[in-house]
Amino acid sequence: MAALTALTKSLGFHCAKRSKISTFSQNFPSHNSRFQTLRTLILEPSLSESVKLNRLSDYDSGIVEVNLDRPEAKNAIGKDMLSGLRHAFEAVDRDSSARVVMISSSVPKVFCAGADLKERKKMTAAEVHSFVNYLRSTFSLIEELQIPTIAVIEGAALGGGLEMALSCDLRICGENALLGLPETGLAIIPGAGGTQRLPRLVGKSIAKDIIFTGRRMGGRDAMSMGLVNYCVPAGEAHPKALEIAREINQKGPIAIRMAKRAINEGIDREMVSALDLEEECYEQTLNTKDRLEGLAAFAEKRKPIYTGE
Ligand code: COA
Repeated sequence: MAALTALTKSLGFHCAKRSKISTFSQNFPSHNSRFQTLRTLILEPSLSESVKLNRLSDYDSGIVEVNLDRPEAKNAIGKDMLSGLRHAFEAVDRDSSARVVMISSSVPKVFCAGADLKERKKMTAAEVHSFVNYLRSTFSLIEELQIPTIAVIEGAALGGGLEMALSCDLRICGENALLGLPETGLAIIPGAGGTQRLPRLVGKSIAKDIIFTGRRMGGRDAMSMGLVNYCVPAGEAHPKALEIAREINQKGPIAIRMAKRAINEGIDREMVSALDLEEECYEQTLNTKDRLEGLAAFAEKRKPIYTGE
């Protein structure tokens, strides 16, 4: 209960002063892709053992990975894991060097099994209310990050696990993925953004089918309905996500932030106001060193080197 009270107290809070966290280097234990073997990763402990924040280095500097690691519960989100997620994304939010985030799992065959149903069984209705509100606001924090976010889905992304993926900008899954919102089968509804983000992504009719039936879908079906951006052979979601993250990481960082803002904030406006927003966002890129670097690199037939200035 103390942990839940602490969570509730910090509802809406994501601009806290950065706490001093010791950093250390080690090889990342979970992915053996050819992309990762040569790199050193900086691991930052969050308050939860179940969520790790990894800042990639060298060529991949700017790419940040939030890694879910609670194998005994298939990455189910309980109070401790939620606290870890919150701290990880608040740290990303404060990190001006971060340019793109990947959310991935070290647990084989699962991205995230949703809410921790064993913990849930012991909660009062009031505790569930606070927990779900905090989960919802944490996923909103993910959605509102200024930089692009990519969910890397191998295996199950169910309930809150899928809702977390829905709050990301891009979703990449393996063919063996299992996606669904099974909440109605538990006599509740998706409560961390699922009823709102899913219909905005795939349309009202398909979202109703998925939520009313609680059906679990494979990666190919998810791809065909536009729920994921890419469906790749099983086990290849991580390298594909890294490939996309690298493409984004090479672009002008201010341009990427402004493109995200223009799309996210413009989509709900009527066209005249939306185009005003586009103008406002474009203006932010005009007086930047990076814009001049882009033009110079084109003229000199070389790759641009952007600094985010
Ligand atoms: N909350 C708490 N514990 C969970 C969990 C959840 N959401 N999902 C899985 N676990 C636990 C299981 O209870 C089991 O624990 P046990 O070893 O003490 O029995 C352990 O994780 C392994 O789960 P298991 O079902 O044996 O693994 P699996 O590989 O066969 O299946 C899933 C994995 C994720 C497909 C399956 O566990 C599942 O469907 N989970 C429920 C998902 C769900 O309905 N989420 C929506 C919540 S609203």
